[in-house]
Amino acid sequence: MSYGNPIRILHTLLALCMLGQLAVGELMDVPGKHSTESSSIMAITPAYAHEDHAGAMVEESWTFEVHEALGLAIVALILLRIGLAFSSVPGAHWRNLFPWLSASGRTQLQSEVALQASGWKEGKLAAPEEGESVARSVHGLMLLTVLAMAGTGLALFFGWNEHGHQTEVIHMVGEAHEVIVGLAEALIALHVMAVVLHIRGGHPIINRIRPFAK
Ligand code: HEM
Repeated sequence: MSYGNPIRILHTLLALCMLGQLAVGELMDVPGKHSTESSSIMAITPAYAHEDHAGAMVEESWTFEVHEALGLAIVALILLRIGLAFSSVPGAHWRNLFPWLSASGRTQLQSEVALQASGWKEGKLAAPEEGESVARSVHGLMLLTVLAMAGTGLALFFGWNEHGHQTEVIHMVGEAHEVIVGLAEALIALHVMAVVLHIRGGHPIINRIRPFAK
């Protein structure tokens, strides 16, 4: 399977934004995070969350602003990727990302696992020509995780009160966001490790996703 250029360009942008976001997320100070008090109001408006309340000092944190900007960029990129999943761009179709949704895909997945699992234990990955259902399933899971990360992040963007006093709902969304980020980090680490193992195995896999490569 080969990827069309829109997918390749989107992948480059998504990979850069995601890697940047994960790094910034580790370093940033979140305004309003260390207030232990949560509001009894169950929903606050975006205007309240971001408004400058009289007399309330909010410490500026440029890392948090970069986190918000990258987060919004990731939301836009993930929406574009979902749009492409319904286009005729080569390699973009949503069925490529979720092979386990069809009976034939599940059969293919089972046979790949049966044939290739012994190699994985030795750090050897089969060439993509020998079947790529496992890799595609991981890609689909990554996109779902990034979607959940972007969705919870967007809810926090509108609902997070930078002056502290989070509602119960926003507090729970924040906890979920952190768990999802952990999952995204694990999947991205697995993805990058698979790319390294493919390259070591002599499979020129980067050319499949590098924009405009042959
Ligand atoms: C150093 C970073 C990265 C490298 C070197 C890299 C490399 C690759 C390669 C070589 C492929 C093609 C696999 C194939 O032949 O099927 C690919 C696909 C893919 N990668 Fe990455 N990747 C990186 C980061 C990321 C990140 C951070 C994400 C975040 C979600 C991601 C998501 C995907 C997805 C979803 C695909 C499948 C293409 C699609 O359907 O959109 N990658 N990547």
